[in-house]
This record gives sequence, C-alpha cells and structure tokens, in this order.
Amino acid sequence: MVESVVIVDESGEPNPYLLGVYAPVQDEITADELTVIGRIPADLNGVYLRNGPNARFPMKGRYHWFDGDGMVHAVHFENGRARYRNRWVRTRAFEAESAAGRSLWTGVMENPKDNPFGNARGLPFKDTANTDVIFHRGRVLASWYLCGTPYGLDPLSLETLGADTLLDTLNGDFMAHPKVDERTGELFWFDYGPRPPYLRYGVVGPGGTVEHCVELDLPGARLPHDMAITRNHAILMDLPLYQDLDAARQGRYKLTFNRELPSRFGVIPRRGQAHEIRWFEAKPCYIYHVVNAWEEDDAIVMDVCRVSRPAPAGNGSPLSRMISYLKLDARMYRYRFDLRTGSTSEGYVDADHNTEFPSIDARSTGYPTRYAYNVSVADAATNLFDGLVRYDNVTGAKETYFYGPGRYGSEAPFAPRDGSTGEDDGYLVSFVTDEREGRSEVQILDASRISDGPLARVLLPQRVPLGFHATWVRSEQLR
Ligand SMILES: [Fe+2]
Repeated sequence: MVESVVIVDESGEPNPYLLGVYAPVQDEITADELTVIGRIPADLNGVYLRNGPNARFPMKGRYHWFDGDGMVHAVHFENGRARYRNRWVRTRAFEAESAAGRSLWTGVMENPKDNPFGNARGLPFKDTANTDVIFHRGRVLASWYLCGTPYGLDPLSLETLGADTLLDTLNGDFMAHPKVDERTGELFWFDYGPRPPYLRYGVVGPGGTVEHCVELDLPGARLPHDMAITRNHAILMDLPLYQDLDAARQGRYKLTFNRELPSRFGVIPRRGQAHEIRWFEAKPCYIYHVVNAWEEDDAIVMDVCRVSRPAPAGNGSPLSRMISYLKLDARMYRYRFDLRTGSTSEGYVDADHNTEFPSIDARSTGYPTRYAYNVSVADAATNLFDGLVRYDNVTGAKETYFYGPGRYGSEAPFAPRDGSTGEDDGYLVSFVTDEREGRSEVQILDASRISDGPLARVLLPQRVPLGFHATWVRSEQLR
C-alpha cells in the first residue's frame, strides 16, 4: 500500500502532487546493501543523480508541485555494486525554515508579500534549488527554475557545499538548465526576471569563473526555461508565454499565452555582444526542454520538445488550474535556422507521442547527435512518465520501453559504459516507482536496445517521489 499523506497544505483540497507517488519523504538515507534483480554491468561506473521537490514542512497556503524543497536522490555504481543516498539541498531558505521548525514562505500560488526573501532579481519566492543537477568542475550544481543561486553539492556524499557564486564572479541568478560543453569545459547560462534587463546571458570559463555576460533586449518579461549551444553559438528563446501583468500587480501569479506573437529564437556567438544576436521567428509555442542543437552547413539545427497549446482553457479552482498547467503535452520537433537567409523551417520529428525530459550523450552537447532518449508522458491528469522512447535521427526509427501498469520513471540520462565510443554505447538509468506497492527501484537498460527491458533492477530502501531532472556523472569525472 502507498503510505498515507505526510505533508498537506492549508487549502483543504487534496493535492495530487502531495499524494501517492508524489508524496514527500522525510528520511535521509544512506544504503549500500541493496537487492539486485539481474546483474549490474561491471562497466557502468558513475553516479545517477536526480533532483525534485520534497516539502519538509506543511506549506503556508496552497502547494504547487514546483514549491517543494529540493531533494537529490543518487545511486553510485562502482564495479557492479550500487549505493543509494538522498539528501535535501541545504538552501538558505531550507536552513531558515529548519531553524524555525515550520514553513516561512508561501509558494507560487499565493501572494508572496510576507516571504522573508527571494532571489537576487527580487522575485519574492523561495529558492528551493529543486529543479536540475548539473555537473561542472568536480561538483554538482542544484538549480531552480525561476532562477536562483546555484548550490554546490558533493556528487557522492550529496553534502551541500553552499551557495556557489562561481568564485565570486556570479552577479545575479542562474536558470535551471545551463549547458556544459565538455569539449571546452565551458558552461553557458542565462537568467531572467520581471524587470529589465529581462534576459542576461553568460559563459563560465573552464577555470570556473564568469568570463562573459551580456544583457539582452526582450519586448517584455518572459519565462524561458532552457537554451541550446552549438560549436560557435548559443540559442536563447523569446516565447509568447509570460506572466500576466495585471494579475502580477494584484500580487497573483498567472500565465498568459499570446497566440498573436511569434516564437523567437536568438542566435548569438558564444562570446557575442548584445548587438550580434540574430532573431529567428517561428510559430507560437512554448518549450520547456531542448534535446540538442548543432551546426550543419550554414544552418543551426535544434531539436526540442515543443508544446503547441501551453495555456489550457477553463477556469477551475486554483488547484485544478495548477494541475492543468503542469500537465506536459509536448512533441519532438525540429527547427532549422538558416544563417544565410535568416529564415526558419520547422516541423515534427514525432507528431504522435507525448515525450519530454530528453537526454542525449552529454559528451556531445552542442554537436551533432544521432540518438535522443525521452520519457513517455502517460495519458493521465498529472505528470507520470510511463516509459522511455529512443529516437534515431538518421533512420527515423523509434523504439519504446514501458514500465508496466502503475510504474513510473524519472528522466533517464545516458550513462556511457567504460570505454564507450558511441552515443548508444552505454546504458539508460532511471528511478522507477510503483504506485501500488509504494516502492522504488533503479532500472538499468541497454541504451542500444531499450525495448529489451532492464538488465538490472536495484531495489531501494524507500520510495523516491516523482521529481524533476537527472544527470549522470561518469567515474572519471569524479576523480
Ligand atoms: Fe526543466
């Protein structure tokens, strides 16, 4: 049986994102005697880390799935053995609430006027560092979707190393999904906010300091979630989904999708100045996640998971609106930006299957990739990932693996095997939670044959609540 609700909010309405497979856990565990069904490949060496919301205290006011305190769950694979660990990210807000013994912040569905502090840009919500985990220069950075302080974590102990200011060169915030070019050691990021400059773009050099940062002009405040890089460029987004300004003046957080505006993609040289950005227009949409981008002749190819209808109709309760907005409905989609003519072509890679949370061989971020590994989004009211989809760019083939009834996965990064030479020469690793049993395991699949199902299942000592983004850190990166 699934355990009963541990954490509730003050709305009185049952919130599905606090129940069942989403319910927060309260224990921080370290476990190395784990039952394995099958055999962990001896050439799978590294750490799988996944971030997600895990409220420590009952929320002040209504709870939004994005509000929970960041908790990282990790499994370290070494020589055929696995160790599990989970830890909250010790953000400033988490420490303040822990000291108080209760919630001090409201979430994004409430008026934030009494919140103790917000992010560097003056956004008044709690920076939970709950969204992604990015490995760069020996540590993992836990990030927050509304732009916050990156928090450094030790990839093995999961100890929070503190707010990471990039050796005192970060002036501002960090978005959720910076991109790392493993070939140059650089990290690319942006931040955004409700007041000008609406967008800033920057580069962290291989030495770990900010070496480049420019302010970019947008027609208004936007909500970009991801970006892309190629060998010579970065690509930023101006999408017509943004915060409703009238609602904001009343202290409410409401999104609006303007179908009259195009989607715009800004292509800027990696270390370019603001005036060098070139904007490419496309049909209106919203995009949470980029699969990858690269240069091809005089064009840039960018694959994304594209949402064509980001603002669901209807005026239900705040809770039902939250549930509708959160529900992912995306399709694999390709843009081609012609750098000679300034024109855009666009179209579906897969018009049928709702897939999201893409991963690729991270060694090729910004360079041509053949394979993408996405999660399959279940046909359900809330976000449930019922399987994995492997896309082959060259043949157009699509391969799927489904976890089975009542079993839901996480983002499944590609984990190269020792000595891996190709983008599918390795494994996919995912947490899988069984809603009927209230238990979780890690599944390891052969990335070249996902439809065969798991090579190994590692049973975990506690349920891993469904969450957000994951990454794989190779053993040689840990040294
Ligand atoms: Fe994301």
